[in-house]
Amino acid sequence: MTDRVVLAYSGGLDTSVAIGWIGAETGADVVALAIDVGQGGEDLNAIRERALQCGAVESVVVDAREEFAHSFVGPAIKANALYMDRYPLVSSLSRPIIVKHLVDAARAHGASAIAHGCTGKGNDQVRFEVGVGALAPDLTVMAPVRDSGMTRDKAIAFAEEREIPIDVSRRSPYSIDQNLWGRTAECGILEDPWVAPPEDVFVYTSDPTVARPGDEVTISFTDGLPVALDGRGLALVDLIAELNTRAGAQGVGRIDLIEDRLVGIKSREIYECPAAITLLVAHRDLEDLTVERDLARFKRGVDQRWGELVYDGLWFSPLKLALDAFVDNASSNVSGDVRVRLSAGRADVVGRRGDASLYSHALATYDAGDQFDQADAKGFINLWGLPTKVWAARQQRLSR
Ligand code: ARG
Repeated sequence: MTDRVVLAYSGGLDTSVAIGWIGAETGADVVALAIDVGQGGEDLNAIRERALQCGAVESVVVDAREEFAHSFVGPAIKANALYMDRYPLVSSLSRPIIVKHLVDAARAHGASAIAHGCTGKGNDQVRFEVGVGALAPDLTVMAPVRDSGMTRDKAIAFAEEREIPIDVSRRSPYSIDQNLWGRTAECGILEDPWVAPPEDVFVYTSDPTVARPGDEVTISFTDGLPVALDGRGLALVDLIAELNTRAGAQGVGRIDLIEDRLVGIKSREIYECPAAITLLVAHRDLEDLTVERDLARFKRGVDQRWGELVYDGLWFSPLKLALDAFVDNASSNVSGDVRVRLSAGRADVVGRRGDASLYSHALATYDAGDQFDQADAKGFINLWGLPTKVWAARQQRLSR
């Protein structure tokens, strides 16, 4: 039987050309796999058909939106995942789910290799290849755009010669990746970090500087996961979609970041993540209300490391799996309601409540009903400060 390769197929120029290219270079049959992670845009059936027109022997499309929300975005919410404190890991989260489905398809179709259309300058190549290595160390990986001279000009020539059905003129001036969790833009004028991003970069968000009435949303969480908007229970995938619309309409979630890529390059990235930013702001606030102080302090470090591992392509790694267990445990009782005001590009928490709250009015109040015994404070401070005081006395003694 002819060798088979499963290609991560987007429907765009590069991966469409890669189908024929891989065939011509290796003689292998190509199975195209397209995955819906909520990127919207073109109909998946049209993408499926195009892969066949481009010469794929099989073309598979998977609606993975629920799974993406539940198994990839959910853990990121619990971990307050923001790379460099700002980027909600839009593409970093989608690559591992694509890898999982690529490996499943390789098994189902008897393929010995997996192919992706990444260049050699980005993080996504790392996420694909390290992910495949973790799930299926026996499979090999092909990267035609990076490794076999498939430049853009050659791709266009190849497409014209073989009458590959791709409209090159429709291409955006930016390099875009998008899904349920947000949208990323790079390249073109954005490569000048001094130039403000033109308004035509943005699709998920309205201009935050335009005056309009604001919005307010109440988000309910159970054990670290959002479960309802304004009291309406929703599946996570629908909740995120609705919040993208509402927060996006207020210009929430635009991010302009000079980012440290894993491959050592600093790059300028523009993100729009209206639902992600709103949910992460709300979730973090609810943790402040419901997580015990030492656990909360420790979790900040775990959260940061978790985000770096995922950014760095180590979703399927032992440390990431172990941190998942910690994050899950720490998320029990992160439950309650958070009121978020959405306006002028900002998502601001204006209220929070819940049965799992650790906030005690009786302890916090300066008014009547105070149950905090201020007399306890004196002895506590004496002992708390004792080591420092002993140290200071020694310093004084020795400096004489
Ligand atoms: N810099 C972001 C990341 O590494 C976004 C990458 C977008 N990928 C793309 N192929 N355009 O997660």
